[in-house]
Amino acid sequence: MACNWIGAESGEARSSTALNYFEVNPKDRSPEAVRAMFGSIARRYDLANHVLSCGCDFLWRRRAAQIVAGWQAKKIIDLAAGTGDLTLTLEKVLPRSEIIAADFSGEMLAIAQSKGVGKVVTADALALPFGDGSFDCLTIAFGLRNIKDWSAALRQMARVLGDDSHLLIMDFSMPRIPVLRAIYRFYLHRMVPILGSILTGQKSAYDYLGDSIEQFPGGEAMLRLIEANGFRNATAEPVSGGIVTIYTATKL
Ligand SMILES: C[S@@+](CC[C@H](N)C(=O)[O-])C[C@H]1O[C@@H](n2cnc3c(N)ncnc32)[C@H](O)[C@@H]1O
Repeated sequence: MACNWIGAESGEARSSTALNYFEVNPKDRSPEAVRAMFGSIARRYDLANHVLSCGCDFLWRRRAAQIVAGWQAKKIIDLAAGTGDLTLTLEKVLPRSEIIAADFSGEMLAIAQSKGVGKVVTADALALPFGDGSFDCLTIAFGLRNIKDWSAALRQMARVLGDDSHLLIMDFSMPRIPVLRAIYRFYLHRMVPILGSILTGQKSAYDYLGDSIEQFPGGEAMLRLIEANGFRNATAEPVSGGIVTIYTATKL
């Protein structure tokens, strides 16, 4: 059967591991299932990231932080901050700014705190507990793709940003060059689930990863999505051959 439902284990596993069971359909991304999935991999998330990206995730975050540093923002929210690697990189380049890490997974945020992230807030990106115009910069790395409603999430981001404030979205994308795309697809769908399973014990989370990347808009489509939901001047910067793209935009 076509694997629309990612993360579903056998019926036996479903009943015997009821507490840990999650099932994430990359098309509808149920928030409860997404939260359970990240909760289940939180302790091994960083290790898996570093191994699966061959260490490139450090470079991606450094580039994102370099862009944000150029904006000299004073109050920044790092949304879907997870275990806080981007938050910590931002804290290094902007030591005088106030930076808040927000995520709806308590398990992921607990790791962020243990790594030294100063300010964490448990928050759902679709109902942010902050007033209008609270921040002058919002970053979200590898988070938007997992949120149930991308447009609604972008509108929430626009709401909590002041006028002319900055947005940075970093996420996976598909390389444009056909041969690179074919190699990447092989890696993503054949190797990542095996490696992810060895590293975290949760193969289904890494099946979901590949499928969610395929579903997620990239390039022009993402620029249109951003500009249709409260932002202007959206730009895209592909990195590492286009397996990751950094999008920036200004609040309308
Ligand atoms: C792939 S991790 C990215 C973590 C971190 N930003 C990084 O770069 O490693 C995705 C994060 O998005 C969070 N997330 C997904 N949906 C969310 C939502 N609706 N509200 C808040 N956080 C959400 C998950 O809990 C998870 O920590």
